[in-house]
Amino acid sequence: MKLPYDVEMIRADFPILHQEHSPGIPLVFLDNAASSQRPNQVIDAMSDYYRKYHANVHRGIHKLSEAATTAYENARLKVQKFIHAAHHEEVIFTRGTTEGINLVAYTWGRANLKPGDVVVTTQMEHHANIVPWQILAEQVGFTLRFVPLLEDGTLDMDEYDRLLRDEPVKMVTVVHCSNVLGTVNPVAEMARKAHAAGALILVDGAQSVPHMPIDVQALDVDFFAFSGHKMIAPTGIGILYGKREHLESMPPWLGGGDMINTVSLEGSTWNDLPYKFEAGTPSIAEAIGLGAAVDYLTALGMDKIHQYEQMITTYAMERLAEVPGLKIYGPEKGRGAVTAFSFDGFFPHDLAQLLDNEGVAVRSGHHCAQPLHDRFCIAATTRASYYLYNTMQEVDALIEALLKIKRLFG
Ligand code: ALA
Repeated sequence: MKLPYDVEMIRADFPILHQEHSPGIPLVFLDNAASSQRPNQVIDAMSDYYRKYHANVHRGIHKLSEAATTAYENARLKVQKFIHAAHHEEVIFTRGTTEGINLVAYTWGRANLKPGDVVVTTQMEHHANIVPWQILAEQVGFTLRFVPLLEDGTLDMDEYDRLLRDEPVKMVTVVHCSNVLGTVNPVAEMARKAHAAGALILVDGAQSVPHMPIDVQALDVDFFAFSGHKMIAPTGIGILYGKREHLESMPPWLGGGDMINTVSLEGSTWNDLPYKFEAGTPSIAEAIGLGAAVDYLTALGMDKIHQYEQMITTYAMERLAEVPGLKIYGPEKGRGAVTAFSFDGFFPHDLAQLLDNEGVAVRSGHHCAQPLHDRFCIAATTRASYYLYNTMQEVDALIEALLKIKRLFG
């Protein structure tokens, strides 16, 4: 099997991967959908900032502040290029996907939604794309509708079409790639249909941006939110992309320093984009780390990363299918790099604990997607998720561990 890049060379950049889980047992990290690991290049970029030029951004004319501001704004430009946004001011730094979605709900939503309106989301969403809308629906009085899931873990697109046709939909908010099923939703088609019905669309890209090339203009989405920590960047940093026309017309959310133009005791006026949505001292080191992560991913090539992950996920699907009593959820083909499963005779938490004893890190639980699990009449799953540095041998280690656990405890 010819791989698109030398995985061992990539692994050499990630110090955390070169440790034993416990004496004699290598660490096999398959919990990347929860959070990925960081390469030296990202760690060094953050450390350089703290060691050599830490100062606040946009607030000083001294040398260190100017260096910090340049690095922070360069990170924004890198992200703009990475997701193909038309303008740098369409790239807002947030703390992560959750904050990006909340920002849209509380600014665009409060200003534009009224009783009788409908927001359409889906049954496969992460709680971060359900709860903010539920809270706002209670306050405003609009209706939240959910596109159901078919048995294979894809969206019921007939029902999506019907909702857009029959209901006064103002916003569609949908996950790009499910963090449980791996389903990759047809967001370009959904955007086209939403726009034809007069609605906007927000995409939760937390599980897609790290794994595939993204072009927000080609997708023609209105808002696109994602997190740094799932794409080899630090925690506490994320991006909200929004089309400039929408961001300009939206009121600010958090008030404070940097987001204002003028403040008097009578009232305040707002700064230009993107600063209108970046109140307070931002996560400067984290933004710089995100810029370094974008450099790393870009140098390797998102096409190649996607191709590699498709290979490892296909291999994992084939090998998991060999394990008796194991059921994988989600579509068979065209999925992201996650495999969530149930295993006869084992509670997911017990299984994750037993796998950890074998050095294999996975996540168990509802993965912040309880309605999705309800749909399949299960409380929880065990999830192995893969990234650019995982190897086929690590998939083999997962399978061997599962077979051993079955032999000993099944
Ligand atoms: N949303 C992250 C996950 O799926 C934390 O695990």
